[in-house]
Amino acid sequence: MDLYDPQRRGGGHAERPSRGDRGSQSGTGATESAKQAAHRSAIRDRLDALAGAKPLLRVDDLAAGYGTMEILHGVDLRVGQGQSLCLIGPNGAGKSTILHSIFGLTDIRRGKIEVGDRNVTRLGANAKLRDAGVAYVLQESSLFPDMTVEQNLWLGGYLMGSRADAKDAAERIFEHYPGLARRRADPSRVLSGGERRLLEISRALVMRPRLLLIDEPSIGLAPVFIDQVFDMLRELKRRDGLTIVMVEQNARKGLEDADIGCVVVAGEIAMAGSGDELRDDPTVGRLFLGA
Ligand SMILES: Nc1ncnc2c1ncn2[C@@H]1O[C@H](COP(=O)(O)OP(=O)(O)OP(=O)(O)O)[C@@H](O)[C@H]1O
Ligand SMILES: [Mg+2]
Repeated sequence: MDLYDPQRRGGGHAERPSRGDRGSQSGTGATESAKQAAHRSAIRDRLDALAGAKPLLRVDDLAAGYGTMEILHGVDLRVGQGQSLCLIGPNGAGKSTILHSIFGLTDIRRGKIEVGDRNVTRLGANAKLRDAGVAYVLQESSLFPDMTVEQNLWLGGYLMGSRADAKDAAERIFEHYPGLARRRADPSRVLSGGERRLLEISRALVMRPRLLLIDEPSIGLAPVFIDQVFDMLRELKRRDGLTIVMVEQNARKGLEDADIGCVVVAGEIAMAGSGDELRDDPTVGRLFLGA
């Protein structure tokens, strides 16, 4: 199977027919369409089995993009409370766009996003963070380099009722992460790449989210810092029951702790399984694990 082949046809469990074939009125098109629907249904069933009966996040048939450009063409996702889901896939596949869409930063054409019992499909980013408990750590660095660690952390509470509440929340985080507390008066630009990533995650925790979206937690980091960041995420999941949806270029690392893994190709979910299943899959190994 070649997930990159634009002419790929249905057949294997992870294979998706090319988009040009779908919806065609020709005999072949109809067959491809049926295969496509069967494949989507199989992905949904697998996700339902992995995420349990009442997933915390449920994405159904999401079509979204930027302006008139559709990037996601019917994405289904599920993740249970306290689970982590890792999205992997080639550059430009739409992984970040999935996180953008869940957070409310894209134009949604079709489909539904639910967090808990709530339909949040049309909720903007501020409301997602304040009212729906969804926080987002972006792929690009979003710290203010000349502001101190402490000031950057306070900004995580910008939607809180008062400055005092934001400061209290920051103190709670400092109590938990003494390494960060020691650097509180330093401008964030002097932190190491790993410390900056930990600060960005900490800032996202100020609003006490129940769902954390994080894009490329390990990007640009040396192995020792990658381990620190993943240790922090693992602890947040196990200790606090935080639900995590991450995108990770380092597929081996990302899938290691993931309860659920999904391969995104050309704006669609091409494969879904447990993190271990995907790590053991020969195609995933060849394409994404350097096996
Ligand atoms: N803000 C935007 N406006 C218009 N197009 C965008 C925007 N952001 C991303 N795109 C386009 O959407 C497509 C998917 O991009 P996306 O960033 O979601 O991919 P990705 O899978 O996260 O890739 P990478 O692994 O390189 O981070 C690309 O073609 C990209 O050019
Ligand atoms: Mg990306």
